[in-house]
Amino acid sequence: MPGVTKMQCLLFQLILTSFVLLDSVNNVNAGITSSFIRKEFPAVDIPLDHEVFAVPRGHNAPQQVHITQGNYDGNAVIISWVTFDEPGFSKVQYGTSDKNYEFTAEGRMTNYTFYQYSSGYIHHVLVDGLKYDTKYYYKIGNGESAREFWFQTPPMIGPDVPYKFGIIGDLGQTYNSLSTLEHYMESGAQSVLFLGDLSYADRYKYNDVGIRWDSWGRFVERSTAYQPWIWNAGNHEIEYMPYMNEVVPFKSYLHRYPTPYLASKSSSPMWYAIRRASAHIIVLSSYSPFVKYTPQYLWLKEELENVDRKKTPWLIVLMHVPIYNTNEAHFMEGESMRSVFEEWFIHHKVDVIFAGHVHAYERSHRISNIMYNVSSGERYPVPDESAPVYITVGDGGNQEGLAGRFRDPQPDYSAFREASYGHSTLEIMNRTHALYHWNRNDEGKKVPTDSFVLHNQYWSSNVRERTLMKHNLSVLGRTAS
Ligand SMILES: [Fe+2]
Repeated sequence: MPGVTKMQCLLFQLILTSFVLLDSVNNVNAGITSSFIRKEFPAVDIPLDHEVFAVPRGHNAPQQVHITQGNYDGNAVIISWVTFDEPGFSKVQYGTSDKNYEFTAEGRMTNYTFYQYSSGYIHHVLVDGLKYDTKYYYKIGNGESAREFWFQTPPMIGPDVPYKFGIIGDLGQTYNSLSTLEHYMESGAQSVLFLGDLSYADRYKYNDVGIRWDSWGRFVERSTAYQPWIWNAGNHEIEYMPYMNEVVPFKSYLHRYPTPYLASKSSSPMWYAIRRASAHIIVLSSYSPFVKYTPQYLWLKEELENVDRKKTPWLIVLMHVPIYNTNEAHFMEGESMRSVFEEWFIHHKVDVIFAGHVHAYERSHRISNIMYNVSSGERYPVPDESAPVYITVGDGGNQEGLAGRFRDPQPDYSAFREASYGHSTLEIMNRTHALYHWNRNDEGKKVPTDSFVLHNQYWSSNVRERTLMKHNLSVLGRTAS
């Protein structure tokens, strides 16, 4: 082009590139409301005498076995179980070959009462100093009642370590819950990110509350004894029940489901962080104080600063109450947490935020509402490439049934929504890509329904910036470093 300098040419390229980028940001696809209507299916709890709740045979046999990650980086587990006849020992034998238990770890025992129900003896044992990426066998209980299980430790944390997480929320103990659990177990995922509302025992009264916590523990043991479930509490864990003089929040949950909160310097088991494979996972409590100056607020601020995307590229946040939800059920309940934390999620380029609570499935576009303030406009979320994807997976299949009424018309920020039961998987491939699936539980059949490739917010945008810089430098006749 005669008379056009290289600098003018570069300027033109930059304007054109900005236009294309802005256009792609503004041109958000219209959302989809799935036309699939799930048939009514009795959302009733499975009777207590059903085989899924079977009590293991033998005197004082350990039951309700579950494991969770035991430290920050994943080479430790907390193994928990319950005995009923007598306290027994809080002792785990373990080793790297079957039936050959070289090591022993000891822990603690606890119990509690709830109305006139007395819990069994609840054992928690931290097993640490494990080798990464290794299969361990473990044995708990004594004599003929002893039981044996195994688990696989994750690989050491690293930026390109592949790993497959399952995501389950609001599970309960109905026939739908059983389908979800069975479908999840077919997925090949290596641990569960649980989004709160475990047993729905609080739907019962008096001593049945404790009894339904025990049945749920036996129900999920088929998975929880073999791989860690990363716990998060929901409103059904609060169990504030003054009518029977039970007013200590989260009493059953905290006695039964420990978390490795001290490893991330949290002051409460309700919120904490772990690193696993190539992911940094932050668990937040929707039902603990989180406004400015509270312990959860101060902890999260520091934990986000601690995230090292060069070691763990994937930054995942779990919470119970969704921040972006277009269902009539629980609409706007996440607004208080949004107003406090959303700016941080954008600033730190969180990849994805999983929530439960709403008994349906929904995925958002990348949007934010951080320009909003109470005295000036900007009331609506806008497309924001730095924002996480928000995904609600509150559809495990509990007794309360589905949340079938979505707001109409579908708000722009909602990408896909469907009122069915199901679970999700997130398969991390490397530092830039992960494959995400939501699997509908269609009358007992597993149907992959919503899927996409999740691009890492830190590495993919760095790649984009580097590519753009390289291009611009090549226009100038220089090479990128
Ligand atoms: Fe909930």
